[in-house]
Amino acid sequence: MHKDVERILFTEEQLSEAVKTVGKKITEDYAGKTPLLVGILKGSVVFMTDLMRAIDLECEIDFMVAKSYGSSAKSTGNVKILKDLDTDISEKDIILVEDILDTARTLTAVKKYLLGKNPASVRICALLDKVTAEKAGDAKADYKCFDVENEFLVGYGLDYAESYRNLPYIGVLKHEVYEK
Ligand code: IMP
Ligand code: MG
Repeated sequence: MHKDVERILFTEEQLSEAVKTVGKKITEDYAGKTPLLVGILKGSVVFMTDLMRAIDLECEIDFMVAKSYGSSAKSTGNVKILKDLDTDISEKDIILVEDILDTARTLTAVKKYLLGKNPASVRICALLDKVTAEKAGDAKADYKCFDVENEFLVGYGLDYAESYRNLPYIGVLKHEVYEK
């Protein structure tokens, strides 16, 4: 285990199993359709690569950069779209793929923005949902792998100040790392 990690919350095996279950659900729900998976960079990359392979349908992928966090562990309240989609999404079935729903500010803003482009549908698939967090937006996860408590998590794509994304598990970051 990494020296900055207090404890492991989800192991590689638990993550793999949960992602496969969600992939199967999406496969059933979108039968006959060609969903466009839109990953929110960078936190969603690891989840995205596993999720897309767990979906047994024709599908497309794209990525957006939308940020509500700087290098601090608290939300700044700013959401900016720094990289937009490459293709026209009118009539497309969009699945927004996100690492974690915290205040939901980011995805509420992104979903609203995408709905303005006339897609057939927009749903949210989040790896984690901080259910006890204070919500600033009304976006909800249509699909999720796990509910989590209000702790700062890293690994499997999730970062603190751009580090720890490559940990294969999800762990709770030690307080002393961000409370200096
Ligand atoms: P929201 O707009 O407050 O829902 O923020 C969502 C974004 O904040 C996520 O996509 C993450 O990048 C980041 N975030 C929120 N909680 C955590 C955490 O526990 N660890 C790492 N990043 C987090
Ligand atoms: Mg982040």
